[in-house]
Amino acid sequence: MTPEELVRQALAAMKFAYVPYSGYAVGAALLTEDGKVFAGCNIENAAYGNTLCAERTALFKAVSEGVTEFTDIAIVGSLDGKKNTLVTGPCGVCRQALYEFCGPRLRVLMAKSEDDYIETTLGDLLPYGFGPANLE
Ligand code: THU
Repeated sequence: MTPEELVRQALAAMKFAYVPYSGYAVGAALLTEDGKVFAGCNIENAAYGNTLCAERTALFKAVSEGVTEFTDIAIVGSLDGKKNTLVTGPCGVCRQALYEFCGPRLRVLMAKSEDDYIETTLGDLLPYGFGPANLE
């Protein structure tokens, strides 16, 4: 799967974002080791703290179906459909949630569009991450 295709899937998921409070829609697409994609959007709640980010929606969908090996995640976001000057980086909670299953090598594509994205790794976004290895 090309990075462009993964970003396209994140953009498709973003359309389902439930964002009546912030207006900030996010989509994420997580690529598994065997080439499957789990996509998710953010889902807000009137009790604001109960909001679930797009990245964790995608991750929890996959893990709840027994899939725990991932290579890439693409993330897109937009405030009220406006064109972005900034990419949407995963929040700290999502970095930690992803680290549990993906570790530092996960490739992270933070995209404005399918041909305009920053490519980095989870290790760069969460250096010295605390993970399962710490508890062995
Ligand atoms: N949001 C995500 O879905 N992912 C992130 O990593 C950053 C923030 C959502 C949460 C909330 O619904 C909206 O963006 C504004 O914070």
